[in-house]
Amino acid sequence: MERLPLFIFSFTCLFFISKFSVAIDTISPNQTITGGQTLVSADEIFELGFFSPGTSNKRYLGIWFKSILPQTVVWVANRNNPLTNSSGVLAIGGDGNIVLLNQTETIIWSSNSSSVPKNPVAQLLDSGNFVLREGNSGINPESYPWQSFDYPFDTVLPGMKLGANLRSGQNWYLTSWKSEDDPSPGDYTYKLDYRGLPQIVLRKGSDVQFRSDPWDWAGSGIPELYRNSIINPIFAFNEEDVYYSFENINKSSISRFVVTHSGSIQHIAWSDTRLEWVVVITLPKDSCDDYDICGTYGTCNININDQVCKCLKGFTPKSPAHYDAHDWSGGCVPRSPRMCGSGEGFRNFKQMKFPDKSSFKKNMLSMDCEAACLNNCSCVAYAKSGILGCIFWYGDLLDIREYSEGGRELYIRMAASELGKCFCISSEFSINSQVTMMG
Ligand SMILES: *[C@@H]1O[C@H](CO)[C@@H](O)[C@H](O)[C@H]1NC(C)=O
Ligand SMILES: *[C@@H]1O[C@H](CO)[C@@H](O)[C@H](O)[C@H]1NC(C)=O
Ligand SMILES: *[C@@H]1O[C@H](CO)[C@@H](O)[C@H](O)[C@H]1NC(C)=O
Ligand SMILES: *[C@@H]1O[C@H](CO)[C@@H](O)[C@H](O)[C@H]1NC(C)=O
Ligand SMILES: *[C@@H]1O[C@H](CO)[C@@H](O)[C@H](O)[C@H]1NC(C)=O
Ligand SMILES: *[C@@H]1O[C@H](CO)[C@@H](O)[C@H](O)[C@H]1NC(C)=O
Repeated sequence: MERLPLFIFSFTCLFFISKFSVAIDTISPNQTITGGQTLVSADEIFELGFFSPGTSNKRYLGIWFKSILPQTVVWVANRNNPLTNSSGVLAIGGDGNIVLLNQTETIIWSSNSSSVPKNPVAQLLDSGNFVLREGNSGINPESYPWQSFDYPFDTVLPGMKLGANLRSGQNWYLTSWKSEDDPSPGDYTYKLDYRGLPQIVLRKGSDVQFRSDPWDWAGSGIPELYRNSIINPIFAFNEEDVYYSFENINKSSISRFVVTHSGSIQHIAWSDTRLEWVVVITLPKDSCDDYDICGTYGTCNININDQVCKCLKGFTPKSPAHYDAHDWSGGCVPRSPRMCGSGEGFRNFKQMKFPDKSSFKKNMLSMDCEAACLNNCSCVAYAKSGILGCIFWYGDLLDIREYSEGGRELYIRMAASELGKCFCISSEFSINSQVTMMG
């Protein structure tokens, strides 16, 4: 079947074409997919072909779930370069790459791999991965010169990665569609930030909208998005790469992550009984998820009705008038000025979302986190991690929230007077008690 010559398509009746269209998951150099023809993965889970989204009359090459209606597209090849005419042709090009040609046989999309197999074939796998592989050998998952899973669009399927290959610099991240009817790249991206503890950041253009809980490998810190009974999160951070991935616990169930054109991240599962997609979780989920809503050293608590933001204990609004008027952007400053080396210490805060811009080194298990932070004047907070040892923050703390359950314990640097370590000037005490009464 893999070697089906082109002329068979031209000389067989429609019945045969439709029969082949459900049977073929692979194209070889002399075969093409055009018009309503499709590739279907071996177990008939995914289908690849041309589609027009919604009311659009533009044509795209995409992958969707074979037996789910309405059509749910999980990947688009020519997202930047639609066909204006339904006569696109998918083929293996003369250079061995997968190519998409328009009516006048101009290449409008190519897999564009610099290393192509000797006997190239393109195959749609049951995972939804569309791969370019050597036609003569068996399937060797490590050696696809090109695979659609390396070029995610708005959807993560089981086995796909969000993150980066640290050697090649290849980055796997999501981009929203422009609108429901327009799969050209939209404003939103969802990308793994691994400068500190790995966390996934939703941006609109270059503006950060939302930041997931950073993950330190500890079970309790699994980001909310991945914390449910449907999936096993998979996380890797090694010399080769850093990524988040997942698998469905029930391998025959269907679920996916998607960044929507309106700027949210959703985990969506297919319900066999309701025959529809069910949203498991949508993030950001409340105003406390808005990035940095409370300013530096401010903390967000959604269970406080009138004012979700307040300064962390030991801090005071930089501009009280603004903070009281719900303009929290100015943030908070230490109530008692910190003087490094003069008896400072730490106050602990429970059930917190770790602030942004964490810093850690691997294999610091035996380190005294408190002493290490105290001894460096630019260290403003630390946390202990059973798996990593210590996590430190240098520079102002931001994007903190308090959870009513879960969350992490955080130790924040305070002046000695904050910790009752000394009896300092009485004016400071009056400020303290005022703030305490207000709080
Ligand atoms: C493709 O077609 C050409 C010309 O008809 C033929 O020489 C070649 O063997 C075919 N290749 C495959 C892989 O079928
Ligand atoms: C595609 O374009 C060609 C040339 O412009 C035209 O002849 C043909 O009718 C078009 N086909 C469709 C389905 O629009
Ligand atoms: C095919 O693509 C080329 C390059 O984008 C374009 O100039 C040409 O008009 C296209 N042909 C059709 C029929 O759309
Ligand atoms: C293929 O890759 C080259 C080099 O990275 C790039 O210049 C070119 O635009 C790419 N072509 C396509 C069709 O993506
Ligand atoms: C797994 O999922 C399939 C398909 O959704 C369903 O038919 C089956 O009952 C599920 N199995 C278990 C153990 O839940
Ligand atoms: C404090 O920590 C920062 C960040 O790791 C580092 O750049 C700096 O050199 C440290 N300072 C001292 C005095 O160790």
